[in-house]
Amino acid sequence: MIPQTLATDRRIINPRLDMLPDYPFERLRGLLDPLPPPSHLSPLAMSLGEPQHPYPDFVGEILHANRHLYGKYPPVAGTPEFREAVVSWLNRRFDLPEGLVDADRHIAPCAGTREALFRTAFLTVPPEKAGNQPVVLMPNPFYQCYAGAAVAAGAEPVFVNAVAENGFLPDFSGLDEETLARTALVYFCTPGNPQGAVADLDYLNDLVALSRQYDFTLVVDECYAEIYNGEAPPGTLQVCAGSGDLSGVLVFHSLSKRSNVAGLRSGFVAGDGELITLFRRLSEYGGNPSPLPVYAAATALWRDEDHVVANRALYREKFDLAERILSNRFGFYRPDGGFFLWLDVGDGEAATRELWTQAAVRVLPGSYLAAADGDGGNSGDRYIRVAMVHEYAIMEDALARIAETL
Ligand SMILES: Cc1ncc(COP(=O)(O)O)c(C=O)c1O
Repeated sequence: MIPQTLATDRRIINPRLDMLPDYPFERLRGLLDPLPPPSHLSPLAMSLGEPQHPYPDFVGEILHANRHLYGKYPPVAGTPEFREAVVSWLNRRFDLPEGLVDADRHIAPCAGTREALFRTAFLTVPPEKAGNQPVVLMPNPFYQCYAGAAVAAGAEPVFVNAVAENGFLPDFSGLDEETLARTALVYFCTPGNPQGAVADLDYLNDLVALSRQYDFTLVVDECYAEIYNGEAPPGTLQVCAGSGDLSGVLVFHSLSKRSNVAGLRSGFVAGDGELITLFRRLSEYGGNPSPLPVYAAATALWRDEDHVVANRALYREKFDLAERILSNRFGFYRPDGGFFLWLDVGDGEAATRELWTQAAVRVLPGSYLAAADGDGGNSGDRYIRVAMVHEYAIMEDALARIAETL
């Protein structure tokens, strides 16, 4: 279970929120802010997954050209052009048959995927499942939003270890029958954050089948799908292509990592038509759709592949660099996807402190991204996460400092 750091007896506060610990970056500030970094070195922040590569110039141009639209409330369903650009991209990228994903029925835009992933728990977690409190499954370690959403929606979060021994891919089907029967929603991420493991089509196929066997919603967070080393990671919609059945499946894609526009706040969710309708309905009540100029820029980004290819090449160069500097150390491996290094340093928190106080490099302890397992251990304890988001020269400096210090 998540450690309790917020416990309060104020009756007006939703007690479920007591289960949420401070967010990892808050915990990192608590760990490092009291400690001064060495004054002769410039601090390098490798903790946050915020891409620093350039984004295409046309983004600014389109925002400017559409600035007269900032006065309008944007539609929650996005513009037809946006939805069509997204469907064309999905069809191209995942080789989907025409018509599997319908621009009007199967797509909803979102202002970044984080809030949308969060909101999905409110759509899909009923008050009870199998006569009990519903369960939301997620990998461990996990993107923190999943746990927050599960808790806020009244479910019990159950963390399924994604560790070196299982190739960092959680075995949801190995859970006991009672837990699976209570499962209302599964969050899964491929390529994974933080370990970068990519699920193959067999894995995704089994997961879709499991979702139908136990009647839960399957959310697959594919926001790192465009940053990969070798082959392009498969997508979950490919599994649905054979049967044409999207029921119970939602996939999430974002421009934040693909196009380096985390601040633009634009992504989409695609899948089950009924869930998409409900998702849009919840947006009408409490959502915050992207402004129309943002939809226009996002449409152009989904239509363009050149910048994505160039972006991937920049990451490849940096992973080549990391391989040269770190191979044979800290259990270094080159992740199949995503932009993080997940380094086994023995004691992630101690290494984080050491890197900050001796080398002015800020990384994230792996344990801050994972929940303790039943026996009090934490599968992230031995690790640090290093975000490879800065330009080459900065990464070269940071990786050399890591190699020298640890
Ligand atoms: C696994 C994962 N999913 C989703 C997101 C959310 O991205 P955004 O809200 O920018 O689309 C992030 C951001 O770091 C992430 O790491």
